[in-house]
Amino acid sequence: MTLSLSLVQGAYIVAGLLFILALAGLSRHESARNGVRFGVVGMTVALVATVLAATAGVDAAPLGSGGPDRNGSGWLGLALIAAAMVIGAVIGLDRARKVEMTGMPELIAMLHSFVGLAAVLVGWNSSYEETPYPTIHDVEVMVGVFIGAVTFTGSIVAFLKLSARIRSAPLMLPGRNLINLGAIVAFFLLTIAYVALPADATFARASVLGVVTVVALALGWHLVASIGGGDMPVVVSMLNSYSGWAAAAAGFLLGNDLLIITGALVGSSGAYLSYIMCRAMNRSFISVIAGGFGVEGGTVATDVDYGEHREITAEAAAELLSNARSVVITPGYGMAVAQAQYPVAELTRTLRERGVDVRFGIHPVAGRLPGHMNVLLAEAKVPYDIVLEMDEVNDDLKGTDVVLVIGANDTVNPAAQDDPASPIAGMPVLRVWEAEHVIVFKRSMATGYAGVQNPLFFRENSQMLFGDAKDRVQDILRAL
Ligand code: TAP
Repeated sequence: MTLSLSLVQGAYIVAGLLFILALAGLSRHESARNGVRFGVVGMTVALVATVLAATAGVDAAPLGSGGPDRNGSGWLGLALIAAAMVIGAVIGLDRARKVEMTGMPELIAMLHSFVGLAAVLVGWNSSYEETPYPTIHDVEVMVGVFIGAVTFTGSIVAFLKLSARIRSAPLMLPGRNLINLGAIVAFFLLTIAYVALPADATFARASVLGVVTVVALALGWHLVASIGGGDMPVVVSMLNSYSGWAAAAAGFLLGNDLLIITGALVGSSGAYLSYIMCRAMNRSFISVIAGGFGVEGGTVATDVDYGEHREITAEAAAELLSNARSVVITPGYGMAVAQAQYPVAELTRTLRERGVDVRFGIHPVAGRLPGHMNVLLAEAKVPYDIVLEMDEVNDDLKGTDVVLVIGANDTVNPAAQDDPASPIAGMPVLRVWEAEHVIVFKRSMATGYAGVQNPLFFRENSQMLFGDAKDRVQDILRAL
């Protein structure tokens, strides 16, 4: 059985275009569903074309690209691929069905680690293949293994930090910048050595590749371990970008154009997302991609006395809301934990029917993944036009009667702008304390993700409404 090369290449171009349409669709609420559909169709086309090409005797690499000359491996190959896909699909479906929305970032981090590991394995396998362009191929092997190994361990550390299996505070080794720089210099020198080795020096070549793998694994671990809790969102999108470049490197080694295109799309969109998030959080892009380079670790002050906090009942909160003309709701991770978006949407409807101007203020890193709050609010059918970005709402908070802080903490912490020693210093926050009244929904006085106390809770105009956010919003609805 043979399959035309141009048919496979054509399918790859169609899949590549569908992936671009998917990214474009996903960039806006209204078109996101279509974006997902384009992605699913594109991936189906890509999978079918690749499996058929691999098993039907087609080398999908463009002729003369230097890609390995694979011959179809027939039914055995098809059976092996099918078995791997079935096992992967069963595990993937099970995880995706069980994962809570709040657990998505760690799942994504784990998935990035698989891409990194795959790139390392492809690189090692490819290092034993013969090629007409040995120098370029050797460099591709080294780059693929290096990026893949950095992505692999970096993503594992991100997974451990995000799932609170290890502490999220930055690891501040002495000379950490030199360690990172040393690893990169070692990679360049070892690559030169690898290229210079004769093709038949199998043991020496495997040893050099082995050292690069170990150095890259250590570098990935160290890069992400050096980044503190508050900056983890940027790390996740940065690892997303690294995983894209790792996939693109594997694409070069396998001579697979689609993998190169897809890897480059993921790599560049992930890098751009990291850049946008760094800007939103007032962090230096270079400092974050270099593992906290130039950032001095903040201190977590737990013994500062901020005074007494005040509490409010759901009935008194309802009273305050009935007399308000303008209300801004700033949701955070706690809203996701409590699944409070539905009663919050109902509260919004009730207040708006009574003529209250209700809007939402969304911090760029509220929750645990980009767009987390927007997804939850859209799910609960809150109209898009009252869901505003932080910058769109911040200046209006001064004239707002009541702000409801629902399960948010770090994103409304005034210490970010008032305390230069805080780990979240410099991060722009929602200035909710400028409103006339602030009601904070949370279960206790515990800290948020960054592990820092929030002086907002002790301000004159702040009142705490303790308990599960969903229960408390329902209590307010009943009292209204
Ligand atoms: P956080 O600072 O994480 O605070 C969430 C608050 O919700 C906690 O203080 C918690 O207090 C409260 N809470 C938890 N469960 C609750 C429930 N059932 N009912 C009521 N309250 C509940 O939230 P944030 O303001 O959204 O900030 C996000 C943080 O996560 C930032 O530091 C950000 O950098 C980080 N982060 C973000 C992302 C992305 S991409 N968005 C990814 C990783 C990390 P109690 O325990 O007292 O209830």
